[in-house]
Amino acid sequence: MANTILVGAQWGDEGKGKIIDVLTEQAEIVVRTQGGNNAGHTVYIGPAKYVLHLIPSGILRPDKVCIVGNGVVLDPVGLVGEIDGLDKLGVPVTPANFLISETAHVVFPWHRELDGQREVRKGNNKIGTTKRGIGPTYGDKAARVGLRVIDLVNAARFPQRLRERLEENNEVLKALGAQPLDYDKILADYTRAADRLRPFVANTVTYLHAATRRHANILFEGAQGTFLDIDHGTYPFVTSSNTTSGGACTGSGVPPNRMDRVVGVMKAYTTRVGEGPLPTEDDSVSDLLHGMGREFGATTGRARRCGWFDAVATRHAAMVNGIDELAVTNVDGLDSLAQIRVCTAYEVDGKRIDYVPSDCEVLARCRPVYQEFPGWQTSTETITQWEDLPVNCRHYLLTLAQLTEARLTITSVGPAREQTMFL
Ligand code: GDP
Ligand code: IMO
Ligand code: MG
Repeated sequence: MANTILVGAQWGDEGKGKIIDVLTEQAEIVVRTQGGNNAGHTVYIGPAKYVLHLIPSGILRPDKVCIVGNGVVLDPVGLVGEIDGLDKLGVPVTPANFLISETAHVVFPWHRELDGQREVRKGNNKIGTTKRGIGPTYGDKAARVGLRVIDLVNAARFPQRLRERLEENNEVLKALGAQPLDYDKILADYTRAADRLRPFVANTVTYLHAATRRHANILFEGAQGTFLDIDHGTYPFVTSSNTTSGGACTGSGVPPNRMDRVVGVMKAYTTRVGEGPLPTEDDSVSDLLHGMGREFGATTGRARRCGWFDAVATRHAAMVNGIDELAVTNVDGLDSLAQIRVCTAYEVDGKRIDYVPSDCEVLARCRPVYQEFPGWQTSTETITQWEDLPVNCRHYLLTLAQLTEARLTITSVGPAREQTMFL
């Protein structure tokens, strides 16, 4: 398979978890390189449903090694809960199949509290975060005051470091009118979690380097999506990490010249959860998908905003990620439609443009220019061969790839492994 970076090409929830699970079959190692437990990656295996937040989706296949890389922000108490949850579902997570980077940054309760407080203060301009403390944790990392896993698992060092950080953050919380947090409780919770996680902690950079030297196939599991990227997304309505392909290098320590291909995952339509511009948002698409019981967030349960496929956006995603291959998921969501729209340009301030404007206030004013496609009005859910898809469906998918300027190689018509076609 070679070293593959998998990214979301839209606003997150593109079906990355499902495609990662499929591609993991050919990989030896799966690495998360950014984000935290704001992610929710859904994988169905037979009747069983798994939702992964911090642990790579590759964990569901035996004999694969999964790694949380240095670029991730890690909530230790949440991670222990996730390990225990998988254990209950019969998925073992052991130091033989799971490693945590010693230099990943740690999420603390004040990060979550500050995340919530900032959202309340923003009022109508709120981001709609997952309230997992992601932004404040990356903020501390950039400000060089964060604590890392290496500090967490050092029992001699951690209590004092925690006290220093808590003192400062309690002052901030009090100034915001929030309750200060209790040192003893955090120390007890985090010490317990550290004791559980210590056996998993490793120098994952040298581990991955050794793996690349013996030409092991590594899959870099992206979280969130291109338009949630801190640099390339619809700032400030973004998450706080580099969700685009470059983040896989900085977040793992594997250099760009060891990467072989980039796979972009996108839905056959568009969704977004949280606030911020979404040019093709359309109530009729939301009603259709929500009516089918689909498009509710895997992490927060919020209803996702839905709209038509936006090819201006995915072309931009292909550009900034260097997408070689495309996986299009949720094709079956459009099965019932007689006509399907695709956005091929925007109109704004009397001009037609074919790129994503950097100013999200301008993007919010963009009106989509649509091309119409005839639907196929047949269920695709049981189709397993590309050639057996209705001709209108194939035409639609190939047009999406052409407009995105990348090669279509995977099509998905349902959540299960079997509902996947390779071209
Ligand atoms: P991720 O965050 O990118 O991993 O995506 P999520 O798991 O948050 O959301 C994608 C949803 O779509 C999940 O419920 C998947 O089970 C589901 N899914 C993925 N591919 C398909 C597909 O081709 N058809 C259908 N019906 N569901 C899919
Ligand atoms: P996966 O990996 C979709 C969104 C939030 C919010 C913004 C910032 O499942 O695709 P944050 O908590 O990160 O500070 O929130 O980003 N968001 C996601 N949306 N899928 C995700 O992950 C997301 N992770 C964060 O809804 O708009
Ligand atoms: Mg998700």
